[in-house]
Amino acid sequence: MELKEIQFKIAVYHSFDELNAADASLLAAARETAQFAYAPYSKFFVGAAAMLANGKTVTGTNQENASYPVGICAERVLLSSVASQYPGESVRTMAISYNNGNGESVKPISPCGICRQTLVEYEHRTKTPIRIILSGMSGEVFVIESARQLLPLSFTPDDLDI
Ligand code: THU
Repeated sequence: MELKEIQFKIAVYHSFDELNAADASLLAAARETAQFAYAPYSKFFVGAAAMLANGKTVTGTNQENASYPVGICAERVLLSSVASQYPGESVRTMAISYNNGNGESVKPISPCGICRQTLVEYEHRTKTPIRIILSGMSGEVFVIESARQLLPLSFTPDDLDI
C-alpha cells in the first residue's frame, strides 16, 4: 500500500488591482452580469463570464424555478450557451462572482459538484484546460489553472471506454 497525495495550487490575489488587464476585465464582466440572475428563492445571485479562444466573451447567470430542483447554476447556463452559440470553441478562462443580497460579497465561492463535472466534460470535449477565477464583489481573488483540479479522480468519457 502507498498513500498518494493529490495537490493543487491556487494563486491568491489580495485584490482586483493585482490582476492582469484580461483577467480583471473578465472578473468585472462576471460581477456585472450577476445582476441578471433570476434567484428569487435563494437570493444568491451568481454571475459567470467566459473568455473564449476566439476572443469572444460570453456570460451566464443562475436561473431558479418555483420547482427548486429545476434551477440551474450560472456556470452551466454559461457553458450551455457557449456550446450553442460557438460550437467547438474552447473556453480559456471563466470568472465567477456573486452577490448574496447581504451587501457586498467579500470572499470567493467555488463551483458546486455538478458544475465541476460539467466543466471537466467541457475541458475534455475541447481538449483545453479552463482557468477559473473566483471572487466576490470585492476582496481576494483565487485563480486555478484548470477546472479538473477542482475535481480530483474525476469521471470522464475516457472511463466509459466507448
Ligand atoms: N449557484 C450557482 O449559480 N453557482 C455556484 O457556483 C453556486 C450556486 C446558484 C444555484 C442557486 O440558484 C443559488 O446559487 C444558491 O445555491
